[in-house]
Amino acid sequence: MTSAYTDFDAPDIAVDVYPPQEDSQLLIDAMVQAGLAPGARVADLCTGSGVVALAAAMAGAKEVTAFDICPKAVQRARQDALAVGARVDVHRGSWARAVEFGPFDVVLANPPYVPVGPEDDSDAIAAEAGPSQAWNAGPDGRLVLDPMCAAAPLLLEEGGTMLIVHSECSNVQHTLSALRAQGMSAEVVAQQLIPFGPVMTARAPWLMRAGLLSPGSRCERIIVIRADAP
Ligand SMILES: C[S@@+](CC[C@H](N)C(=O)[O-])C[C@H]1O[C@@H](n2cnc3c(N)ncnc32)[C@H](O)[C@@H]1O
Repeated sequence: MTSAYTDFDAPDIAVDVYPPQEDSQLLIDAMVQAGLAPGARVADLCTGSGVVALAAAMAGAKEVTAFDICPKAVQRARQDALAVGARVDVHRGSWARAVEFGPFDVVLANPPYVPVGPEDDSDAIAAEAGPSQAWNAGPDGRLVLDPMCAAAPLLLEEGGTMLIVHSECSNVQHTLSALRAQGMSAEVVAQQLIPFGPVMTARAPWLMRAGLLSPGSRCERIIVIRADAP
């Protein structure tokens, strides 16, 4: 399924903000397909360019609150929201601040999730990949995912829904287990095989040696997990 809310070829997305990619679109499509936005209070936890937050607003959310630690991302998301007349409240700071503004009916997240190897590979990754804080997520890729799963019950209204997108390299089963352990239902609702981008191209040999990616892989599977609060 494709969405009219993003344009991945948009030439004006600066590389100092994460350019919307397949993971952004997969998350948006899952939200739209599930009909989650209309009338909902929505949080977008790691908003980057704001593409997911804007998609929620355009899909009929009652309120959208977005967070990012990167000042340029915050500026970009605010500008884009203004430009299209979308009501999105963008906060500079950690996603964890969302607890102060919640609980929400819907929580959306495309967090950093790429595991980081022992060697500095920054010179091998093209600038078009955007800033490293958009994807680097510790040795197992779970630096943000783990606390986010732990915070899910605090962020969600009763019966609320969280959608998180991440890679097979950052342990899908771990996310499902962490969410279920807190009494939420959790399942993979969307997935896509995508060719390696600049980060995965540089990091795939290490990921395979570390057992985080199947040997000989040429593509990466990205998934969307849906978790529903009781
Ligand atoms: C993979 S990008 C996703 C951007 C956008 N949501 C999208 O789908 O295109 C992750 C974003 O998370 C931001 N980020 C990283 N750590 C964060 C944190 N602790 N709290 C909030 N945002 C964070 C990065 O600055 C980056 O903009």
